[in-house]
Amino acid sequence: MEKLVIEGGKQLFGEVNISGAKNAALPLIAACLLAPGVHVLHNVPELRDTKTILRLLESLGLTWEREGDTLKIDGTGLRHSEASYDLVKTMRASVLVLGPLLARLGRAKVSLPGGCAIGARPINFHLMGFEQLGVTCDIKNGYVDARIDGRMQGSTVYFDIPSVTGTENLLMAAVLAKGTTIIKNAAKEPEIGNLIDMLIAMGADIEGRDSDRLTIHGVEKLTAAESRIIPDRIEAGTYAIAVGATGGDAVIKNCNPSHLPSLLEKLRLAGIGVDISEKSIRITSPENKKSIQPVDITTMPYPGYPTDLQAQFMALMSMSNGLSVINETIFENRFMHVAELQRMGASIKVDGRIAMVKGLGGNRLTGAQVMATDLRASSSLVIAGLAATGRTDISRIYHLERGYEDMVGKLTGLGATVWKENE
Ligand code: EPU
Repeated sequence: MEKLVIEGGKQLFGEVNISGAKNAALPLIAACLLAPGVHVLHNVPELRDTKTILRLLESLGLTWEREGDTLKIDGTGLRHSEASYDLVKTMRASVLVLGPLLARLGRAKVSLPGGCAIGARPINFHLMGFEQLGVTCDIKNGYVDARIDGRMQGSTVYFDIPSVTGTENLLMAAVLAKGTTIIKNAAKEPEIGNLIDMLIAMGADIEGRDSDRLTIHGVEKLTAAESRIIPDRIEAGTYAIAVGATGGDAVIKNCNPSHLPSLLEKLRLAGIGVDISEKSIRITSPENKKSIQPVDITTMPYPGYPTDLQAQFMALMSMSNGLSVINETIFENRFMHVAELQRMGASIKVDGRIAMVKGLGGNRLTGAQVMATDLRASSSLVIAGLAATGRTDISRIYHLERGYEDMVGKLTGLGATVWKENE
């Protein structure tokens, strides 16, 4: 297994290019199951998770080829309807094949993902939505066995909580259903807008993009189309926080600043300079490197503060001038990074879903051996390591590789001293 080694204490300067969004690429790749023909996707990041979903599509009978960041996926050969435990256990987003398989084959057998490091993460909303469209879902031997004779029938579905992949799964089911489906309290994340654009390009009829009420008029068939993955707002946010935490000055390029409304505001409140243009964000640090202000955050569905940037902001707050309160409302167990940040000298107390972070003021975190527990927790340890004095060794970096394209290359380009080593 590989670990990441960081010699901390260098300010980040220069420019970094943002890749396509993991959480948009996964549903868009799954959507290729919906129609025969060659789908073309641009700006696809090369990540462990995108490789996993492509392996899954292959196991269902599809073929694909990659040239640079363009993927061509041929949806013609779809013949299997089962996603095995081996693939689903490494990536929960594998459940995204449920909707398209039901729409095209009327049958989907997908291993239940089970719990994961950040919480229980059930898929009951997905299944409830399919059942409303007439699907029978049984859970047997660890698998969801979902089936329907003929086409699904449009209906109204209400989500108790706006679920991102739940909304995506139901969209992909409803586009080929008979009649109209309305999704109430739908999630509004930009990745869902990206999926809706692709589905419309394929011939789907969807109203309400970017709102919490989506109306889908089912069509009889879809055709392959060409789409572009939006920039990864979580990757952009991670680098923005890293630049601020190291007292640097850098431009985050090829991103969409309008997808990061809450983070950019919180960075400004923390005293970090944020200059946005159409496709980039310049981050500058306060003159006095010790003056990061404490700021509270509460994670919320979009456009609220994203849970996927909570751990990284906590690393920044552990260096602030005072006390900040971090409230994680989305996942019940997303504070696994706290114990690791504490090993680097951070002062954090957790009470349920609240973390109280007492910033170190003028003092720095200190490098340590730490362990990555999930994707975003790992990136918070990277930020802490970059800002700390001395050497930090982060083990289990396969978590990082699930969602950050070429992180070592990008950080090196910003002037960090960082490399991979065998453990
Ligand atoms: N929930 C249920 N039942 C369901 C679905 C969700 O109770 O059937 C609950 C979840 O347990 C959670 C809340 O609803 O408390 C919201 O979860 P959501 O379904 O929105 O999460 P997700 O779709 O499984 C996606 C991202 C996550 C991101 C969350 C929240 C993808 C592939 N994954 O997960 O990304 O944290 O939305 O924004 O889009 C990551 O990239 O590191 C990551 C974990």
